[in-house]
Amino acid sequence: MRVVLGVSGGIAAYKACSLLRLFTEHGHDVTVVPTAAALQFVGAPTWSALSGKPVSTEVWTAVHEVPHVRIGQSADLVVVAPATADLLAKAAHGLADDLLTNTLLTARCPVAFAPAMHTEMWEHPATQANVATLRSRGAHVIEPAVGRLTGKDSGAGRLPEPEALYAACLAIVSGDGAAVAGAPLRDLEGRRVVVSAGGTREPLDPVRYLGNRSSGKQGVAIARAAADRGAKVTLVAANVSLPVPDGIDVVPVETTLELQRAVEEAASDADVVVMAAAPADFRPALVSESKIKKSSDPDAGLRVELVENPDIVRGLVADRDARGAATPFIVSFAAETGDAHGSVMDHARAKFVRKGSDLQVVNEVGTDLTFGKDDTTVHLLRRGSDEATTVGPTSKDAVADALWDTISPLLD
Ligand SMILES: Cc1cc2nc3c(=O)[nH]c(=O)nc-3n(C[C@H](O)[C@H](O)[C@H](O)COP(=O)(O)O)c2cc1C
Repeated sequence: MRVVLGVSGGIAAYKACSLLRLFTEHGHDVTVVPTAAALQFVGAPTWSALSGKPVSTEVWTAVHEVPHVRIGQSADLVVVAPATADLLAKAAHGLADDLLTNTLLTARCPVAFAPAMHTEMWEHPATQANVATLRSRGAHVIEPAVGRLTGKDSGAGRLPEPEALYAACLAIVSGDGAAVAGAPLRDLEGRRVVVSAGGTREPLDPVRYLGNRSSGKQGVAIARAAADRGAKVTLVAANVSLPVPDGIDVVPVETTLELQRAVEEAASDADVVVMAAAPADFRPALVSESKIKKSSDPDAGLRVELVENPDIVRGLVADRDARGAATPFIVSFAAETGDAHGSVMDHARAKFVRKGSDLQVVNEVGTDLTFGKDDTTVHLLRRGSDEATTVGPTSKDAVADALWDTISPLLD
């Protein structure tokens, strides 16, 4: 397939190098058409060397070949990644002041834009109107991902990972573009995903239990996002009373031991296990068969002996290592509070080492933080990297998408 890879001047231009490699490694013929601003981020020699072709930003080079018409006319796909707010505006208004904008007017093949910019630029009514105009003319505008942006900030406007863009381009060319334009990417198609959600309850007697404040909102959002992106999802739900979309297999559990059994069973053929549930670390050593009564002595109190529950994540990691298997990819959660011994991140990093998981999602918890809330801030710790990526404050749905944006490219 003859692909025109348009690159406009956004910080994510470097990711287009990987997209270019994916095309060429799969045997596609790629002509890169950067804007002048794109060359501020990645130089022409890089595009030229990776594509094996000369690179120009304007219409005055090799004029005898009439490149401003020929490149677009002979393409089977034009994809602009990243597409800046400026480029979307020019395309929506039919401007043609450089080689890429001319190419967009002469192309009669499928045209895809992968916008990437700060959230404010993306959400601006001008940008949204330009996107709507482009879509109304049949162009495919791939939804930007939610996650880390240029600096330490995060939100909607991130360029999806090259693998996801490549999959979206193939879907567009194969006529499945309706699924891509404006819809979540289907980058988890064919993957088996297990998500645990909620908080476990450890019975004391037939009416009482020890529990925690986890509502299951984040876990359900992660399960829903995975299903939207094409995964087959099993949700192991510990005392969750939230609606779960059709198509997700729900395994209800109550205690940590039940959670462990259900997760281990579902994990045996899973590609990814996300342990978003809050399992109790301890359970009563004895569960009374009848309701525990008050004693006649008001000073007597009640002593409850607790025993430690198994560490489910460590068990999953140990099992995978014992099998010498590469899957499942294991995501742990750390709900931490800072104290005299260290900050939230100190405790979270220590826990990440103890757990041995591949990715850890760190939540700061406490009164009025995280549990049961719609918005949250999380920090993502990745194995082999000292840097934490902060997502939020944003909705739990946006965190779920940012999590899959991070995991998806790591699965191959
Ligand atoms: C460091 C830096 C990063 C930028 N990142 C983006 C971006 O991600 N998205 C965007 O729309 N504009 C971004 N811009 C602004 C564009 O470069 C600017 O609008 C430029 O005119 C775009 O030109 P083009 O659309 O012809 O490539 C950035 C500018 C700078 C200096």
